[in-house]
Amino acid sequence: METSVTGRVAVIRLHRPKALNALNSTLMHEVVTAAESFDADPEIGCIVLLGSERAFAAGADIKEMQSKTYADVHGGDLFTEWDRFAAVRTPTLAAVAGYALGGGCEVAMMCDVLLAADTAQFGQPEITLGTIPGIGGSQRLTRAVGKAKAMEMCLTGRRMGAEEAERAGLVSRIVPAADLETEAMTTAQTIASQSLPVAMLAKEAVNRAFESTLAEGVRFERRVFHATFATEDRAEGMSAFVEKRTPNFRHR
Ligand code: CAA
Repeated sequence: METSVTGRVAVIRLHRPKALNALNSTLMHEVVTAAESFDADPEIGCIVLLGSERAFAAGADIKEMQSKTYADVHGGDLFTEWDRFAAVRTPTLAAVAGYALGGGCEVAMMCDVLLAADTAQFGQPEITLGTIPGIGGSQRLTRAVGKAKAMEMCLTGRRMGAEEAERAGLVSRIVPAADLETEAMTTAQTIASQSLPVAMLAKEAVNRAFESTLAEGVRFERRVFHATFATEDRAEGMSAFVEKRTPNFRHR
């Protein structure tokens, strides 16, 4: 794994080329720890997750899991660490080129914005290994693309290309592979230029849609909307509009 920071954007790059970025326990721990430490840094307004041209990540590490027993995975609560990645409050963006399979697809789906290169391939092939998704794939894929496609993908292991993924609502946009990282950074910089506390609230409000009834979600949104009026940045944003200037958000 490699990390870097440009302005208010932090980048975490999966880098295990020999295994197509398969997520072994070391890589998982590094990614989760890096994401949490960027999340704790108020100077970071967006966290970008990148892979390589060939693979975002080809899944959890099968070779590492091969000899584990039920007692091992249940006792150690295998993959629970990823819940900490999903709990990051700073906006996250995954830029996927090539394979995003199994755990790779699941980690991409945990991110708030998902951009796909035209080479992207998404899939939950665990069934072909005699297992099922274990980092939320059966839940997040179903919420993203609906039962019909999620069920077929989880039962057959069929992969979804970028165009189908965009049509189905899994990704927000397709970008030519050569432009993916530039586009990811531009989008991340746009996100990071907003008020961080307000972006966190926006993220929380959208995520609430997956966890509540419409009435509860709308009530939550209304209260959070009201709460933005307690921030300096809301006052600055509206004043800047009225005064026809760019807002100078101070992230409070
Ligand atoms: N775990 C461990 N090693 C992996 C891996 C994985 N998930 N995916 C690829 N690799 C390794 C291969 O074993 C190979 O290593 P060697 O050179 O040492 O043999 C290397 O990466 C390159 O892979 P291939 O030679 O297979 O490359 P390919 O271009 O022929 O095929 C591929 C690419 C279709 C992605 C194929 O590698 C593949 O099917 N990978 C496994 C995909 C998969 O099943 N993912 C789900 C994992 S289970 C999971 O993620 C559980 C969960 O939900 C948490």
